[in-house]
Parts: sequence; C-alpha cells; structure tokens
Amino acid sequence: IIVWLHQAVLNFNAPGAIETECRDRYFWVSMDVGFAGHVPRFEAVVENGVHIISEAHASMCGYTLNNLNGQASLRASYFSCYTENKNDSNFIFKLNVVLTDHTGRENKHSLTENCTLPVDWSSKEILCEENYIEVGLCKAGNVNPVRYADVVLSDKHNTSWPAALAFAQRSAISEWQIMFLNQDFQSLDAMSISDARRMGYMLDSTPNRVVFRSAYNQTHSIDGIAVEVIHATVFFRRKWAVVMLDTSAACTIAPSSFDGVILHWRTPKVMTPLMQDFSRFVSRSIELGAHAQLLDEATRKTMGYVLGEDGQVVHVSMPFGAPGGYRMSLVENNVYKESYKAFLCYEHIYSHVFTDDTEIQTRHRHRVIFFSPLTETLPHEEVFTVYLGSFASDVELIAIKLNENYLSVTDAIQQHYFITKIPHTNGTHGFIIKVPFEDKSVNKVYLGEGLLQYSVEINYTLNIIKQNDTFFHHVSVVAHVNDAFPPDVSAFCTAQSIIFRINHPKQAGLWEVCVGHQALTSDLSRQEGYILKNDSQSMTLEVPLFTSGYIHEDITLRNFVGSFEILIRDSKTLEIHKRITKHCYFQSEELTVCSTDGMMTVVATTTKTWPAVPPSSTTLLDRSCRPKATDETRVLFSFGVDTCGTRLMFGEGYIVYENEVISDGGVIIDQESAITRESKFRYLSIYETDKYVKIELG
Ligand SMILES: *[C@@H]1O[C@H](CO)[C@@H](O)[C@H](O)[C@H]1NC(C)=O
Ligand SMILES: *[C@@H]1O[C@H](CO)[C@@H](O)[C@H](O)[C@H]1NC(C)=O
Ligand SMILES: *[C@@H]1O[C@H](CO)[C@@H](O)[C@H](O)[C@H]1NC(C)=O
Ligand SMILES: *[C@@H]1O[C@H](CO)[C@@H](O)[C@H](O)[C@H]1NC(C)=O
Ligand SMILES: *[C@@H]1O[C@H](CO)[C@@H](O)[C@H](O)[C@H]1NC(C)=O
Ligand SMILES: *[C@@H]1O[C@H](CO)[C@@H](O)[C@H](O)[C@H]1NC(C)=O
Ligand SMILES: *[C@@H]1O[C@H](CO)[C@@H](O)[C@H](O)[C@H]1NC(C)=O
Repeated sequence: IIVWLHQAVLNFNAPGAIETECRDRYFWVSMDVGFAGHVPRFEAVVENGVHIISEAHASMCGYTLNNLNGQASLRASYFSCYTENKNDSNFIFKLNVVLTDHTGRENKHSLTENCTLPVDWSSKEILCEENYIEVGLCKAGNVNPVRYADVVLSDKHNTSWPAALAFAQRSAISEWQIMFLNQDFQSLDAMSISDARRMGYMLDSTPNRVVFRSAYNQTHSIDGIAVEVIHATVFFRRKWAVVMLDTSAACTIAPSSFDGVILHWRTPKVMTPLMQDFSRFVSRSIELGAHAQLLDEATRKTMGYVLGEDGQVVHVSMPFGAPGGYRMSLVENNVYKESYKAFLCYEHIYSHVFTDDTEIQTRHRHRVIFFSPLTETLPHEEVFTVYLGSFASDVELIAIKLNENYLSVTDAIQQHYFITKIPHTNGTHGFIIKVPFEDKSVNKVYLGEGLLQYSVEINYTLNIIKQNDTFFHHVSVVAHVNDAFPPDVSAFCTAQSIIFRINHPKQAGLWEVCVGHQALTSDLSRQEGYILKNDSQSMTLEVPLFTSGYIHEDITLRNFVGSFEILIRDSKTLEIHKRITKHCYFQSEELTVCSTDGMMTVVATTTKTWPAVPPSSTTLLDRSCRPKATDETRVLFSFGVDTCGTRLMFGEGYIVYENEVISDGGVIIDQESAITRESKFRYLSIYETDKYVKIELG
C-alpha cells in the first residue's frame, strides 16, 4: 500500500517551516512536517515551566491538534488554559513547537504572539469545535446577568431554570457552582468548580466573561439524534443576590454525508435549549467560512459551496474535490482510491429581543468536517486513474500500451492522456496515468442487470537510465458502472403507423436498435420506407403500416392487429437485451397480407366494379372457396397458399402466389378498379428474405 497526498507534491520542501496567524477567535500555528511522519509536540509556556498540549488534555483546555496533508497544526482558543488574557481584548500566546528528528535530537521553536480581538465578543458565544464545546458569556457590563434569568424564567418550556433558581437560593455557598440538568430533564447535579474540573469540565472567569468548556460525550451531555446538548447553569451569590448564568450549549454532531458526488451537512437552524421563545427570536446572519474567513456569497459560489435553508433546517453542501479541502489518495493493489476532507466554519448570529428593544446576541459557530469515505475511481468522473510505483530515481517511463494501442510517453501526452510523475520525499517516484472510460482503447462489456464493465490492460515500458535496460510492467484495471441499462423505449399507435421513441442511453455506442436482425440505420429506414428521426435526446422511428417487419393478425372486416417489434442488442456481442413489441388495431379497408404460416388474407371491396357485384357472390379461382366474411360492400378471404387454386410462380429468390377474386355473376373484381371480363385481381405475392416476410401487392 502506498499512501501519499496530492497537494503535498507541491510543498515537500523545507520541513519545519512554521506559520502563525491570529484569527478572529483563535490563534493558529501550523508546521510543515512533510511526509516523514514526525509530528511536532506543542508546549504551552507558563511562568514556571511548560505544559505539553496532549490530545487528552486539549479538549478540556481549548486546544485542537491536527495532522493533515503534511501539516501539523494547533488551534488555541483565546480562552485556552495557558493563554494570557488582557481584559478579553488582547491574548498572549507563548508556545514551543518541538520537532524530533530521525536521530532523536529535538529542535525547539519558541514563539510569542500577541493577538488583538478583531471582532467584539457577542453577549453569548457558542463554539462547537472539533473536540470541544465552548460557551462564553458576558457576565457584567452592558448585559445584566439578571436578564439571562429573565429570558429563561419567562419561558414556560424551560424546566431547568426555576429548579436551578430554587436550588441556588437554598444554597448558602458563596463559592461558584455549576448545575447540570440531567438526561431525565428532572434531576439536577450541582457541584463546585473544582469538582466540575475533576469531571473534565472547565469553568473560568475572565475580566468580563464566564467561559465554560466541555468535551463531547461527557456525563452531562444529552444527545439527541444528531445534536449534543449540555444544560448547564453557573451561579454564585453576590451580596444578597444570586447571579445565574445560562451556559447551555448545543452542537450538531451528525457527520456529513456523501452521495457519490456531493457532500452534505445539515443542522437545525435553532436548537431548542438555546432559544425556546421563537416570538422573540431574530436571525441576524448565517454564513460559511473556509480556513480563517467567512465567505461572501460570490466566493461561496465560485468554490461550489451551497448554503440553503429549508424551514428550520440549514443545509450546507459542497462537491467532492471542491477548493478549500484536501483530496487524499491511496493505492491498493494498483487500485487508486481517493477520499476528500474539508473543514468549513458555519456561523449563525441570532438575537433574543426584549420588549424594550434591547437584545442578547448569540454567535453560534460550528466547525464542520466534510469527509467522504475512500472511493475507487470516482464513477462520475468516468476516468481510470492508475498509479504505478515506486521506483528509484534512475527509472524512467518510456511508453505505455493501452490494450493494443502502443504509445510513447510523448505521443500519449500529445493525444491528451494524462501522465504525470509523482515524486516521494524519500527520493523514489511513481507515475499516474488517467484513461477516460470512453477512450477508444477501453473495453466495455455489458454484464447484465445494468452493470457495465470497463477494462483496460496497461503494459508499461520502463527503462533504467544508467544501464539502458528496458523492462515491462503489466496491469489490468477494471471499473463497474451500475446504471447502464438498455435504453428506454416507448411506443404508440397512429391510424396508419406505429411510432417508437428510443431515449439515448448515457453510454453511447453500447446499444444497437434492430429490426429483425438488422441494425437500424438511416439506410435501412430509407430502403424499407421507415421514417427515422434522431436528435441528441432520442431517436424516433415511425413504421408505416404494411412495411416490412409487420405481423398482421386477427383480421376481420372491421379491423386487424398489426404488430411490430424492435430489439435492443449489445452492439459488440449482438446479444439481445430487450424486445419491444407494439400491437395496434388498424381498420381493414382493403388489404392483402401473407403470413409466415402460408396463409393469405384478402379484404377487397366489391363496389368498385360496375355494375357492383353482391359480395356474397364472390369466390376464389377454385369456385368452392367462398368468402370467410362479407358485409354490404366488402369480402374477406383467408386461405392456404396451396389451396383454392392458388397459382405458383418462381422468381429469383422468391415465390409468387397468385389467386383471383371472381364473382359468381361473371363480373370480375379488380383491386385496381378496372372493369373487365378478364381476371384483373392481379396477384398476391410472397417472397422471403431470410426470416422476413415481404408482401407485395401488384
Ligand atoms: C518511498 O516512499 C514511497 C511513498 O511513500 C513508498 O511507497 C516507498 O516504499 C518508499 N521507498 C522506500 C525505499 O522507502
Ligand atoms: C476592559 O474591557 C471592558 C469591556 O470591553 C471595558 O469596558 C473596560 O474599559 C476595559 N478596561 C480596560 C482597563 O481596558
Ligand atoms: C499587545 O498588543 C496591544 C495592542 O496591539 C498592546 O496594547 C499590548 O501592550 C501588547 N501586549 C504585549 C504584552 O505586548
Ligand atoms: C461519543 O460516544 C459514542 C459511543 O459512546 C462514540 O461512538 C462517539 O464516537 C463519541 N463521540 C465523540 C465525539 O467522541
Ligand atoms: C508487454 O509488452 C512487451 C513488449 O511489447 C511484451 O514483450 C510483454 O509480453 C508485454 N507483457 C504483457 C503481460 O502483455
Ligand atoms: C539504449 O538502447 C537502445 C536499444 O536497446 C539504443 O537504441 C539506444 O541508443 C541506447 N541508449 C543509450 C543512451 O545507450
Ligand atoms: C443518433 O444520434 C446519436 C447521438 O446524436 C448517435 O450516437 C447515434 O449513432 C445516432 N443513430 C443513428 C441511427 O443515426
């Protein structure tokens, strides 16, 4: 198994480069670690020593560690544990980034950064980070904490607040306490700050704010299907009053989903524990951000991100491989697979507006991870991506043979095949070749049930430069598409024809429409008198009555059934995969048809002669063969070709059977409507071309 990361190819120089940035709510440090796999250690520097920022400790302390795409990074919340806070507007980060090289030697980079808050804090801020939930509340100043009590007390649905208040008032402790509403929505757990810390919660009082932090999945979290909720209330006694702060939080924890093309993420617009009185709720803005910045609508569009609302649900989607994310590749037994990961920031700012028009504003942020599972050659891209590697630096690719198509690398590139060299950090390299499914050298085989198999044999010619030694490597790759059904066909009847409409399938050239054993082409249509129209969407075939290919059955004086069948076959194997037979009723005015079982049927009009003959007086050449049916003006005869005096004539490749309709009164009926004493009901002829019966009326 060979793993490498696409974008890394561009920047595997100089491992160790460090970047830092003050972002609006956190400090960011990133280090280029290349692919050697050495992950740096981050340390927070405090007055009397250092604290190692470990995964285990990070979520409680407001740090997020990441190692992706050759970059190791740390995000540190402005309220992270070891950060110096100057009146909630300046934050000083002192960190060490320690990298151990392959000899075990440590390289330490120390950095100090002074970040100034660029955007003022909202009254309440909820951050749903990758590894923790952080809630920050204004505890004094412009927002009176008692207002928070007002908000929740006025809300009849909130069961926790009155109970919490009663509990807080009973409690004589002047120390800060935190109270959690339990899963049963009835009982409360109250504890001191130090007890809460022991349980993994963090509660901090900054100059102007109260900050509460919890990892996901803690004892007191209540998880709905996709939302994790913490009902927490902080209270303390101040002189004679009890101050209560609602540090409840809710975060959508449902992961993104992937439908093969697009990644989706959904979140409730407002989460009920945070806002229950919708009459006072005003949504101020909903935005998406990538990396450090919120994006305007135009930028969002160019990146292919979609942000939409559907009632009380907000949905965000992005296509696989959209900019701002990482495509990750994996090659397994020469099968190339990719996954995609992107981090977006979703922010909803909303307010609770009071009757006096003052408001409490909440900034609710989610860090959203879009992640697709590993997929083989992405079906919608319809391209084989084949990796071959890895080779020492003195091996070059000279040529490739795609099935029987031999191409030097230069020719292949000229013919727009994608061939690229992938260097690895250890000095070796590999090659990627892309071959579109529809390429002429790709074999297509329909396996049935809508399953289409594409395959290509690749024979690489490689050369060891120094020794001028050529060698070969052979792989065969296969991909399946499972919606390659034969085309949809609809058919309908008109007074004089049958019309078939054949929708072009997605995979061009796979299927062939046939009449009998012959492929339907414009030549065939012209020859047979069919009317064929073809556009980019569908093909329309109109087969006029009595053209070749019809079967006529159930003939009466009134009507008969005309049937026509078209077939859909595999254009390579000629195997038939679909038959569409349309039966239509047509009026039998006058007709002469022969069927393959040696029967001839004639419907003729007797009123075209002068004087008209009574239909019941007619017979065939054999005077004992009388009509099967008659009405006032017409007769119907049906007889075998070796009966009723039928005459036989041999043509070149066909036989003509001939009979006549004669009137008892000596008047002879002629289909061509002449009056004569001679038999002028000329003949009915049959000739056979392979399986198909061709009927000619002379
Ligand atoms: C070099 O790196 C590539 C890609 O990571 C790997 O597949 C290969 O085995 C490595 N070769 C050596 C000799 O370490
Ligand atoms: C500290 O911040 C608060 C609120 O932003 C402000 O009112 C106060 O003046 C600041 N104090 C100092 C010393 O800067
Ligand atoms: C940090 O920056 C602010 C404003 O830019 C400045 O007032 C403050 O003194 C700085 N603090 C330190 C420790 O450098
Ligand atoms: C929470 O716990 C469940 C099972 O106890 C686990 O499947 C899930 O991954 C955990 N979530 C997080 C964010 O740790
Ligand atoms: C690959 O091509 C070379 C040269 O044309 C040939 O000798 C070799 O047999 C081929 N390998 C396979 C497996 O077809
Ligand atoms: C390598 O060998 C080929 C034939 O096998 C020959 O045509 C070519 O000139 C040689 N190249 C070098 C650099 O020796
Ligand atoms: C009809 O049009 C399609 C697409 O334009 C083409 O692939 C197909 O060969 C055409 N068929 C005929 C019978 O002309």
